[in-house]
Amino acid sequence: MTRASDVSPREERTAANDRPIGVFDSGLGGLTVVQELLAVMPAENIIYLGHTARVPYGIKSIRTVRRFALEDMAFLLRFDPKMIVVACNTASAAASEQLEAAGPVELVDVIRPCAAAAAAETPGPIGVIGTEATIASGAYQRAIAELDPARRVIGKACPLLVPIVEEGREISDPIVRYALEDYLRDLKSEGTRTLILGCTHYPLLYDAIGEIMGPDVTLISSARGAAVEVQQRLRSRNLQINSTAPGTLRCYTTDNPERFAQIGQRFGGRRIGDATLVGTDELAGE
Ligand code: DGL
Repeated sequence: MTRASDVSPREERTAANDRPIGVFDSGLGGLTVVQELLAVMPAENIIYLGHTARVPYGIKSIRTVRRFALEDMAFLLRFDPKMIVVACNTASAAASEQLEAAGPVELVDVIRPCAAAAAAETPGPIGVIGTEATIASGAYQRAIAELDPARRVIGKACPLLVPIVEEGREISDPIVRYALEDYLRDLKSEGTRTLILGCTHYPLLYDAIGEIMGPDVTLISSARGAAVEVQQRLRSRNLQINSTAPGTLRCYTTDNPERFAQIGQRFGGRRIGDATLVGTDELAGE
C-alpha cells in the first residue's frame, strides 16, 4: 500500500495549464462531481481527496466541518493545483469563505453556481434538499437571496438519503421511494418549481426524485453546476490543459481504500483504480 507521504507531489510541478484540478469531499460522494468534470473536460487531470475517516460531515457542527475542510484544502495544495473544487455541499456551506481566505488558489464551491442556475429558472419557489448541516447553515438560502431577494426558498434536510445511497439501494426499492416521498411531500405541496439537489449523493437518485416531483419541476444538480463553473473559469483564465489525451484521476482517502475503490465506481461512473491512503494525522499536519 502506497502512502501519500511516499509520492512527493511537489516534485511533479508542470506548466501552469497542465497542473491538476484538486477536488475534495467528505467521502466518496464527490466522485459525482468528478464524473461531471470529466464529462465536460475529459483531458483534465484530477486529484481527489475523500476524507472517509471523518464522513459524514452532514451531521457535524459547522465549526468541525470548517476545520476538516481547511485540512482537506491544505492537503490538496501540496499538488500545486490550478483550481480547487469543494465538491462537498456541507463543506461548501460551512467553509467557503474561510477556504477562500486561507487558500492561495482559485476555489469553486458547489453552492454559488447552483444557486445562480436555480435563480435563473422559472419564477416560483425554489426547494433545496441537503444534509442537516447544509440546510441549517442557510448557505443556499443566502446565495439565492443575493441574486433574487424576493424569491421564496424552502430547505429540507434529508439525513437518510446519504446512507441509503451508500448502501447501494436501487431507486425502485420501497425504502428509497418511502424516504423520498416523505422528504419531498412538503416541497411538493408548497408549489416548488425548481429543486436543488444540494448533496453529492443525490445525483444517484435523480430519476426517482424527478418522478416524485413531477414534470413541471426543474431539478438542478450541484455536481453539474460546479463542473460548468470550473470549465468557464478555466476558459476565461486561459488555463485549460494543453492536451487532448484522456486525463488522469488520482484518488486519496483517509480510510479503507479498498471500500473506496469498490464503491467509488458507482459515484464516479468509472473504475476507480487504487486509492492511496492518507493518515488523518498527516492530513491534520500533526
Ligand atoms: N458530501 C456530503 C454533502 O454533499 C454528503 C455526505 C456527508 O454528510 O458527508 O453534503
